[in-house]
Amino acid sequence: MLFVKLVELYGRYGFTIRSSISPFLLTKLSLNSSEDGTFTYAFREGTNIGNLGGGINMSEVALIEDMGQVLAPKRVFAIGCSFGWSTLALALAMPTAKIVAIDIGMGNGKEGLALTNQIAKENGYDVTGVLGASPGDLAATVASHFDAPIDMVFIDADHTNEAQSKDYFGIRPHCAADAVYMFHDVMVCQMLPSFKEIAAATPTHKARVLTRTASGIGVLAPKDSHADLHRVLDAYCDPFGAVPV
Ligand SMILES: C[S@@+](CC[C@H](N)C(=O)[O-])C[C@H]1O[C@@H](n2cnc3c(N)ncnc32)[C@H](O)[C@@H]1O
Repeated sequence: MLFVKLVELYGRYGFTIRSSISPFLLTKLSLNSSEDGTFTYAFREGTNIGNLGGGINMSEVALIEDMGQVLAPKRVFAIGCSFGWSTLALALAMPTAKIVAIDIGMGNGKEGLALTNQIAKENGYDVTGVLGASPGDLAATVASHFDAPIDMVFIDADHTNEAQSKDYFGIRPHCAADAVYMFHDVMVCQMLPSFKEIAAATPTHKARVLTRTASGIGVLAPKDSHADLHRVLDAYCDPFGAVPV
């Protein structure tokens, strides 16, 4: 029900969600072949609050929901918040977590952060959206919000190989040894080279590209723990579309 809850939650704030139209269906619905039907946008009074930062797809919401069944992190850090869609998905799926999300505020990003904080406050979610840039502001943001290591990270910010690596190596010193790391858009934004470097630099963790998610999410999960999490992650890797890491 997580996707349903998110659509209804944004609906209560006056937003209409556009999300997860299948690429094949989109060819029947739109003449614009470059239109993004895959990721999530929220519209209110003609304005797209996620104009420069689409949210995760329904398959990725399902992944977070399933991860929440087997994982109960206490401290979660997200890099790239936009209008809060994935951050609030994490909050609903992992209600024991305190979640901090940093965003540089591109496009309608500042309004997106304000909306995220408003929804969190009014619904009792332990979520704080912070205006700031990764990697430069990571240390100060972590220090002012957490008093123990982070146990889960969701990276979805500047979609280049260089930036993805900087985000990871910037946040890792603030994380527990058995932290779980998620990297959105690894495949659709051609960030596999950096994901492979990150995986090689993290031999304690098993790296997977989840080819049953719309963006090809990369995940690092500790090899020696979290057995049920590995079951979940395996189910999101299609054997006919395997990506070696
Ligand atoms: C794709 S959107 C994030 C969507 C969000 N994770 C979701 O699924 O709901 C990417 C966001 O990263 C932000 N961003 C880009 N570069 C950044 C940086 N260096 N530090 C922090 N945020 C950044 C942008 O402002 C944008 O809002």
